[in-house]
Amino acid sequence: MRAVDIIIKKREKQELTSQEIEFFINGFTNGDIPDYQASAFAMAVLLNGMTAHETKDLTLAMAHSGQILDLSNIVDVVVDKHSSGGVGDKTSISVMPMVAACGLPVGKMSGRGLGFSGGTLDKLESIPGYRVDLTTDEFKQQLKEKGIVLTGQSLDLAPADGKMYALRDVTGTVPSTPLIASSIMCKKIAAGATAIVLDVKVGLGAFMETLEEGRKLAKLMVDIGHLAGRKTVALLSDMNQPLGSAVGNSLEMIEAIQLLRGQAPADYYEHCLHVAAHVLVLGGRAKDLSVGRAMAEQCISDGSALEKFRVLVQAQGGDISYVDDVSKFGHAKYIKVVNVPRSGFISQVHARIVGEAAVTLGAGRAKKGDPIDHAVGFIIHKKVGDKVKAGEPLFEVHANDEKKLEEARDSVLSAHKFSDEFVSPLPLFYE
Ligand code: URA
Repeated sequence: MRAVDIIIKKREKQELTSQEIEFFINGFTNGDIPDYQASAFAMAVLLNGMTAHETKDLTLAMAHSGQILDLSNIVDVVVDKHSSGGVGDKTSISVMPMVAACGLPVGKMSGRGLGFSGGTLDKLESIPGYRVDLTTDEFKQQLKEKGIVLTGQSLDLAPADGKMYALRDVTGTVPSTPLIASSIMCKKIAAGATAIVLDVKVGLGAFMETLEEGRKLAKLMVDIGHLAGRKTVALLSDMNQPLGSAVGNSLEMIEAIQLLRGQAPADYYEHCLHVAAHVLVLGGRAKDLSVGRAMAEQCISDGSALEKFRVLVQAQGGDISYVDDVSKFGHAKYIKVVNVPRSGFISQVHARIVGEAAVTLGAGRAKKGDPIDHAVGFIIHKKVGDKVKAGEPLFEVHANDEKKLEEARDSVLSAHKFSDEFVSPLPLFYE
């Protein structure tokens, strides 16, 4: 078998066999198949798609590119939650400590930023010292002792995804249903999660712009989860406008920590309670969503979720003084407040434009392995449906370069649309 023939076959819109997919993923993982062939493969998949059968094979091949953790001798259930990617989406950072504080073991393997969408690992790394490269033994040990792990792909867990993810980020091959489904689900399968809540984002700032595409991705991932014997549910949530206020790594970390103190923008707080309730139900700790929600609220008000987060940060080598005092997070050199240009109602805050502007500021990568600037980003003050008066603050730009600041300010201003008529707020969840 040759990699080039597999690429050509996909280019010609033919269905790949399980053996071909396995050959390609194994070769890519061990370095026999170079990045340029893997990029061409990813582009062929993006352009020509994959059948459900091929997607399942791809997921299993990537999951088996490393070890598959069996955690049954450590804990009875391990929950995970994963987002399909969005702007300002720091949900995992708040929700995982919440559910762990409610007694559910959390073992999660997250990803880095992808295109215009931020990544949990990049956000966590804005805490100095926080390690996202735990070994399998460390993963198991921490899960057993602390009941919470939030790490990235290691050399021994789904390494094929780690490599493919980094390539997709910089080769225009992110928004592909089979590539997203396999990337997310191989990590869940490898990390041994027994109950998985998928937060599938839909809208202008999501890889799936329509409800129909979102449903397709959700169904595919739920089917793969069931095939692998994992309890899996998917929620379809809004990503037309950024979630919460903060966009950018440190800024989002601060907002996620503030949520654990009960101080967060209303949409983000509500989103987290709902997702946490689903995780608690699926993990068998809550009998229904209203009980799950009450548990999630309680762990914030009694401080146990924040304490769990401190435990997590300490266990993974992070400096917990940042959790206790968020003013320690690195600040950008320039902070510019942009005001509302005209009175009326906000009718759009285009999430993708905001996400792309954050990448321009340095919050994401243009090339594989590029360093990122944790301090830059935006604070978005207004939501769709808000009534606004000219002159009040609309958003803040946090930048380390004056020219980039100007560029980002113009694009984020253009992401906002105004109307004289009343505009309904956007729903948080669709299904
Ligand atoms: N999250 C992932 O882990 N992979 C994707 O491809 C998209 C979102």
